[in-house]
Amino acid sequence: MATLITGGTGFIGAEVARILAERGERPIVLDISDRKTLLRGVEDRVTIVKGDVSNYSHVFNVIKQYGIDVIYHLGSMLSIPSDADPWSAFRVNAQGSFHVLEAARILSTKKVIFSSTLGTYGLDIREGVIDDYSLQRPTLFYGCTKVFVELMGRFYKRKFGLDFRGVRYPAVVGPGVKTPGIVQYYPWAIEHAYRGKPFKIWVTPDTRCAAMYYKDAALSIIQCAEAPLERIKMGVYVLAGMYLSAQELVDNIKKFIPDARLEFEPDMEKVEIIKGLSKPIDERYARDEFGWVSRYPIERTIEDFIKELRENPEKYA
Ligand SMILES: NC(=O)c1ccc[n+]([C@@H]2O[C@H](COP(=O)([O-])OP(=O)(O)OC[C@H]3O[C@@H](n4cnc5c(N)ncnc54)[C@H](O)[C@@H]3O)[C@@H](O)[C@H]2O)c1
Repeated sequence: MATLITGGTGFIGAEVARILAERGERPIVLDISDRKTLLRGVEDRVTIVKGDVSNYSHVFNVIKQYGIDVIYHLGSMLSIPSDADPWSAFRVNAQGSFHVLEAARILSTKKVIFSSTLGTYGLDIREGVIDDYSLQRPTLFYGCTKVFVELMGRFYKRKFGLDFRGVRYPAVVGPGVKTPGIVQYYPWAIEHAYRGKPFKIWVTPDTRCAAMYYKDAALSIIQCAEAPLERIKMGVYVLAGMYLSAQELVDNIKKFIPDARLEFEPDMEKVEIIKGLSKPIDERYARDEFGWVSRYPIERTIEDFIKELRENPEKYA
């Protein structure tokens, strides 16, 4: 079985590649960037192909050349870059995903697993809890592209029998992330505290957001991919992660780093966007249909985060 990971040199994709490589597979990675930093330790057990998902031939060629059966489609522009340049985000996120689905259809790839986002919700959520039936009406362009891909994947499943499934991540946190994101204060607070540097958190202490450790993010998408097809009814699943206020985050960091210099300096525009999504998440369908259970609650997240930074200083420089 040959597995392709688009976006596989990135933050979550590299962790998916690491898990598969450590299990003895040799995953193929298609990424616009061929940097190996996050693949450190498994770089010689992964095949990296430099390519752009918005170029149909790049996608088609790699699937054909390596006889790909399963595609983890994580290659994407993230929220802030997509809002700054929606024209490129359309090409990469919407059209690039169409290329993945279309090449998978033509070349009879069995399965496409998609990484969507909690940011597909946002405007005007009426319910007290977000679940897989909540109305997806995103605030940002990024979320618009992700809703489109979810729906396009459902269409390919119905019309062409492609096994399309996916997860909707909350904010994914972990060491070494450079791509700016609205909830990036979460990992940057931990990282600055670890490095003994002061950090100003740009939300109010009571701002809550759902967040998940990157190792959980990689495990969850693999678990979703590997569930028997007959169990997969919902198709795309919202994942809950941790649901902490910024103050609770600080309190937890201080359990490990008591002298952490963390202050609040709220940016109300960002606070409003996060508040639009600030609801507890009900992940019951992920639990029921592919047995999802998080392995990284907040204390284990911070502990492992610090361990990663300590043991791999070059990886996260
Ligand atoms: N990090 C989060 O908080 C978060 C939350 C929800 C969903 N997601 C989704 O998870 C997936 C992985 O995100 P991540 O956090 O690892 O981000 P990341 O930026 O580290 O990884 C994305 C990867 O996609 C690659 N890429 C970008 N444009 C490309 C293109 N045109 N062709 C090929 N590759 C391209 C990048 O080089 C990068 O390696 C994305 O689809 C993202 O939308 C992430």
